[in-house]
Amino acid sequence: MRTAFVTGSAGFIGFHLSKLLLEEGFRVVGYDALTDYYDPALKRRRHAMLRQHPHFSAHEARLEDMETLAAACREARPDVIVHLAAQAGVRYSLENPRAYVDTNLVGAFNMLECARELGIGHLLMASTSSVYGANEIMPFDERQKVDTQLTLYAATKKANESMAHSYAHIWKIPTTMFRFFTVYGPWGRPDMALFKFVAAGLEGRPIEVYNHGQMARDFTYVTDLVRGIRLLIDVPPPQVDGRREAIEGDSLSAAAPYRVVNIGNSESVPLLEFIDRIEEEIGRPIERTYLGMQKGDVPATWADASLLERLTGYRPNTPVRQGIREFVRWYCDYYGVKSAGPGKNRPGREKVMAMPPMADISALRSTQPEAAP
Ligand SMILES: NC(=O)c1ccc[n+]([C@@H]2O[C@H](COP(=O)([O-])OP(=O)(O)OC[C@H]3O[C@@H](n4cnc5c(N)ncnc54)[C@H](O)[C@@H]3O)[C@@H](O)[C@H]2O)c1
Repeated sequence: MRTAFVTGSAGFIGFHLSKLLLEEGFRVVGYDALTDYYDPALKRRRHAMLRQHPHFSAHEARLEDMETLAAACREARPDVIVHLAAQAGVRYSLENPRAYVDTNLVGAFNMLECARELGIGHLLMASTSSVYGANEIMPFDERQKVDTQLTLYAATKKANESMAHSYAHIWKIPTTMFRFFTVYGPWGRPDMALFKFVAAGLEGRPIEVYNHGQMARDFTYVTDLVRGIRLLIDVPPPQVDGRREAIEGDSLSAAAPYRVVNIGNSESVPLLEFIDRIEEEIGRPIERTYLGMQKGDVPATWADASLLERLTGYRPNTPVRQGIREFVRWYCDYYGVKSAGPGKNRPGREKVMAMPPMADISALRSTQPEAAP
């Protein structure tokens, strides 16, 4: 049985990835501090669901606590590390920049040190589409120069790419760096647009629409995203002296077993169209307050995900309409609210997350005190 050490296992993506890896026969050792950046109850719930699986265990501690992190790694003896824990969020990095330095720089450095000590077979780490910053040529391709980050969040992620490259070079650690594009889906993050729009729409509150709606995002459904990660686990970048044939469009470094891979849906969806889809799914209009461009925001993202496809044979393919529908179903189920839209005919719980046999969502819900955000 292979062991994966997954940081950020109580987070949105880490939860979905851990669940998939468990289903695929991995032992998963999670590591997450359950920080209060957003409702820790949601994180506790995710960990509780994972803990129902006999091959899951988790440490609840900070990445900056090197002693605990190193001990957890030594005890786990993982075959792969998937490092997802981070201070995420573009806008919050204007409010609390130090959180990004602590978690994303010090924490990521500690993770690299552990990977070095373990001589890990494959280290996979989360970066973001935000590293493309002010780049205007789209779709974004991994080989583009990325020197114009617009927020400290993006800058710390770009720093992670450079730090990981240097460790891959010196210590020969096969390293894959993902650039994720706006991930959404059930069990999603309350600070992200879809969650906020659905919550406001169902409660009849107005939403803020930035740049007067002139925005577009490549929205990636979380199940597609974790499938891409899962497949990339089996494709470690080759060592410099062990290379055979080249892959077209590869971002493989000439100096290290290191590559960057975009994971996106390869479709840039206008924000206003996205909101229209949400209205259809919740069955009522959402009042919109149009505002100017927010500091540090980018007007559009769009992934060239052809390298992912060439490496794994897989291409994310969930249509946005379907992804929004799944999210609304989950949201209504989780918070016990009714939607007037197509989501009102909620399916059986197994369809909400395809979660059983691991967990019974209704049993967990009976213990949740919090109201809809
Ligand atoms: N969701 C997206 O759209 C998106 C897009 C691009 C990149 N990413 C990246 O993907 C990764 C996962 O993102 P997510 O959406 O699941 O976010 P998330 O906030 O839900 O998950 C991150 C987890 O890391 C944990 N964490 C934060 N600081 C920590 C610390 N110092 N020590 C230990 N644990 C800590 C948090 O408790 C949280 O559970 C992050 O690295 C993020 O930057 C996400």
